Amino acid sequence: VGQNLVVLKEVDSTNTFLKNSLSNSKPLPEGTVIMAEDQYAGRGQRENTWHAEPGKNLTFSILLNPTFLSAQQQFDLTRAVSMGVYDALYPLLRDSLKIKWPNDVYYQDKKLGGMLIENILQGAQIKHAVVGIGININQENFHPGAVNATSLKKILQKDYDLQYILAEICNRIEAYYLQLKAGKLQFVRDLYISRLYRLNERHWYKSNEKKFEGIIKNVQPGGLLMVEHDGQEYTYNLKEIEFLD
Ligand code: BTN
Repeated sequence: VGQNLVVLKEVDSTNTFLKNSLSNSKPLPEGTVIMAEDQYAGRGQRENTWHAEPGKNLTFSILLNPTFLSAQQQFDLTRAVSMGVYDALYPLLRDSLKIKWPNDVYYQDKKLGGMLIENILQGAQIKHAVVGIGININQENFHPGAVNATSLKKILQKDYDLQYILAEICNRIEAYYLQLKAGKLQFVRDLYISRLYRLNERHWYKSNEKKFEGIIKNVQPGGLLMVEHDGQEYTYNLKEIEFLD
């Protein structure tokens, strides 16, 4: 991952760019990374937009061809990628670093980055995965609306080399990707759970306009979040639950 690196000065979204490249007659090799200095229409989870100050952050997408994963195993790829990003940042941030379900990278209660993985299926298997990652590195000021955002610079008061962190992330993701390829799904699942933000803690959530106090107990193999509240265990998908305080 990252052997073939393309750096674009400006692009709408590296995910869109990479997805469009799949219809070229000569597809890009697996592991290709498209990185943007400036992304003017970055896309996030839940149809959100992703803003990043030009030149200061990591915004890139990786092309993977995980044909060995079924459509039901899509969340295992999410886990592998989240863990790769986690491991790359861990030497800098240590145990305050967490993975917020499904795939945000959190430092204490603030978001450092996120990912948008878009899978192209062929029948019941995954054919291509466009793995988009955005990590706030050297940006110091955020949109007033983004109260929850942080960056490495805000946390550690230092500037970081984007290429260096990119290389670390690519290497770590590759390691987990190879674990998946070798069939070690359970290993990656266990590790993901052990890094999960708010696991076994009591916090407030909102679903269906209803607020409740609950405890995250687990994440199902397919990726649903299991929360215990009102004396029972419930499962939620991304659109169904919101994290409150
Ligand atoms: C999220 O937390 O909502 C996911 C953010 C994903 C942003 C990255 S930046 C590179 C890639 N290209 C995009 O348009 N989005 C992802």
